[in-house]
Amino acid sequence: MYSLTTTKMCSKSFIETLLQRAQLFADGKEPWKCNGTVVNVFFEPSTRTNLSFQMAAHRLGLHVLNFDCTNSSLKKGESMLDTLQTIEALGANIAVIRSSEDWPAMELDKKVNISLVNAGSGVKDHPTQALLDALTIKQHFGYFQGLTVTIVGDILHSRVARSNIDVLTKLGAKIQLAGPEHYKADDLATFVPWVDFDEAIEESDVVMMLRVQHERHSEKFPYEIGEYHQKFGLTQERVRRMKPNAIMMHPGPVNRGVEIADEVLEDGRCKILQQVRNGVAVRMAVLEVCLLGERYGHLVSA
Ligand code: CP
Repeated sequence: MYSLTTTKMCSKSFIETLLQRAQLFADGKEPWKCNGTVVNVFFEPSTRTNLSFQMAAHRLGLHVLNFDCTNSSLKKGESMLDTLQTIEALGANIAVIRSSEDWPAMELDKKVNISLVNAGSGVKDHPTQALLDALTIKQHFGYFQGLTVTIVGDILHSRVARSNIDVLTKLGAKIQLAGPEHYKADDLATFVPWVDFDEAIEESDVVMMLRVQHERHSEKFPYEIGEYHQKFGLTQERVRRMKPNAIMMHPGPVNRGVEIADEVLEDGRCKILQQVRNGVAVRMAVLEVCLLGERYGHLVSA
């Protein structure tokens, strides 16, 4: 039984294999049709991740059930573990879980006998987001070694930042962080450099903007929107100072006029919708490996 709960469990070669398989799907390769049922269990709102897991499952020929967390027996006090064991007993093969809790706190994968895929948990892990971001970077540059990736914004509350740091560092990119000092993360401070955004913009190959995650803030947001945008947003003026071949990314959803100016979203170097497209291909590769387990290696090398 293969589960993907964090990128920390993924070696560089496994990530490369997943990206290679995902690229085939992005190029339109028809997958082997798989048998099985995927259950989407989303405790937090999601558009991209939820729909692209559904799309990926349909393209693989899988059945999809969407678990309604707001109208389930969780509301009657059933635990998450009992819910997943019920999903397993019903005959599902994979549960895709989005949660506001950090995954290790749940320790679910050790207690059920179905594949579990982390669709974003707490502030630490969003493995499929980092994989689709890596695929987007690879499609543009063809390599990772030596690329400078600057991740900008609400780093403290960002699982996207943490998963990307893990994946892109393994692949050979140099990561640096920028944004409000208020949202610096102590757990990252010792191994990822903190830089001035306005200096970093000129040397970056990838500028990855993050959403301000108000839903995770315990304190009042200390900026006016316009002030935040001027200090830490991707304005047209900053885009003009980027390297000609540099790209802009954002995991979505975007708060227009906060992290990114409206006009910048129209720029051809802005890869946000390419990231969404790649989400389907990457999630196909992840669901496939969950279903095939050890046989996956043979499939990829075939
Ligand atoms: N990037 C991301 O996880 O978006 P959703 O919350 O819409 O799934």
